[in-house]
Amino acid sequence: MIELCELPRHAIQQSVLYTRVAITDDNPVLAASLATALRAQELQVQVTNSPDALTEELVITAGVGGDNTSNTHWHALERAREFHRTGGKSLILLQDTGGRFDAGPSQGWSGGLGALARTAALEWPDMNVRCIDVAVDVADMPATTQRLLSVFRHDVPLAGVDLAGNVCSLQESEPLSYPTESKTTTPIRQSDVWLVSGGARGVTAACIKALAQRTPSRYALLGRSVPAIWPDGIAITDDIKELRSALAAKAVSVGERPVPKAIERAARQALAGQEIRQTISTLEALGSVVRYYACDISELQQVHDVVATIKNELGPVSALVHGAGILADSLIVDKTQVQFDRVFATKVGGLQNLLAALGDTTLSHMALFSSAAAFYGNTGQSDYAMANEVLNRVAQSLKRRWPNAAVKSFNWGPWESGMVDQTLARYFEERGIGLISLESGAALFVEEMLAGDRHGVELLVGDPWANPLADATVSDSAG
Ligand SMILES: NC(=O)c1ccc[n+]([C@@H]2O[C@H](COP(=O)([O-])OP(=O)(O)OC[C@H]3O[C@@H](n4cnc5c(N)ncnc54)[C@H](OP(=O)(O)O)[C@@H]3O)[C@@H](O)[C@H]2O)c1
Repeated sequence: MIELCELPRHAIQQSVLYTRVAITDDNPVLAASLATALRAQELQVQVTNSPDALTEELVITAGVGGDNTSNTHWHALERAREFHRTGGKSLILLQDTGGRFDAGPSQGWSGGLGALARTAALEWPDMNVRCIDVAVDVADMPATTQRLLSVFRHDVPLAGVDLAGNVCSLQESEPLSYPTESKTTTPIRQSDVWLVSGGARGVTAACIKALAQRTPSRYALLGRSVPAIWPDGIAITDDIKELRSALAAKAVSVGERPVPKAIERAARQALAGQEIRQTISTLEALGSVVRYYACDISELQQVHDVVATIKNELGPVSALVHGAGILADSLIVDKTQVQFDRVFATKVGGLQNLLAALGDTTLSHMALFSSAAAFYGNTGQSDYAMANEVLNRVAQSLKRRWPNAAVKSFNWGPWESGMVDQTLARYFEERGIGLISLESGAALFVEEMLAGDRHGVELLVGDPWANPLADATVSDSAG
């Protein structure tokens, strides 16, 4: 589980004091107020988005700038990257999810910067990177600045300070164990309609199948793929290498030259179609009513249309699982806005679109598929980690909106399936991080969905990732 912990101020190590500081002007009022306060401490402070090479410490205010979720996170990443390029030593990312990492005025949508701090710290060991979650009171900037200063030198990766001045951080509490018994406090009815983004394939499909095994329901599965029919004359397989060879041989047999790109595309489409059909038939065999809709959830109009169709064909949506997600890994230094946009548009934009299309519907169950990369950070996954961290913060806000619902953000470690290919599996295994089996992960998903509030909203699932940053938070907080 991920828990908020109070930070005992006296026990916290202080960060190095740098004298040349810059503050970005994404929030000009807070930047000016903080600059005045730091100058009073005899520091040399500039408010600028282009700090010079002499600047030692940069405070990025994008997270409290009021821009939309995508711009907030992209601008923070760009400014951090530029500062690192010029040899900066210390970076502080500000955000406002109420000063307690729980949602705040942005309802969590600008709350992914903790994950950027953790990822940047892994990619740039030469730089001290921190995130401060501060409750900004626009009517009283001097008081906001004083609260911010109270944690400004806390040398912890994540620190929060709320309106009352309480200081906190996030930490991993007792590890979640896979369920051995079943409890039900938030039951499912056969008439419930589950909208499941990404639900026809990968680990989300495994979770939904396990859920349907407990109680059959009505499922609307969404994915971009239009299920392709299996290629004629080729034996059904789930082995992509075997399928590529068979497709190439088939092309040769009819006098065509096999084109690797076309073979790859056809193989992937065939496997996707096959997986979708298998998921549907398994769910139907378990007594559920199932529809698959080809829909790109990053497109608002498509989501509106599909939600209207679901209402007609299955009934009003009563539960949501947001499992759609993609990877576009590369180091911060190489990260392109195209990669960032694709990752954010699916995870974060997709959730925004789903919630917009559902309007004021009250949900009984809601699961967001986040990642342990959000909690620990992960080299090469700055965009993915931030997007998943946004899901964590938004989940907190949605729990407030639907207090009686089972609202969970699953920070999954790596599974033995889905987007974890052989290369990624090897990478995690080399780090001593075991893979979550389909059976165990799906059983945990079902248990958490059906057993309501047992473990809170943010769940960390799988082996702990050896991470000096997370350890630092815990030991500092323990005093
Ligand atoms: N597997 C893991 O180890 C792991 C670990 C941590 C977190 N997670 C999270 O768990 C979720 C599922 O992961 P997975 O491993 O099962 O991935 P996966 O096998 O790649 O499946 C992703 C699913 O999302 C759908 N999807 C992607 N973009 C979409 C879009 N724009 N609109 C609609 N559907 C879209 C895909 O269908 P189409 O391709 O047909 O669109 C597919 O069904 C993801 O959110 C991932 O971040 C997975």
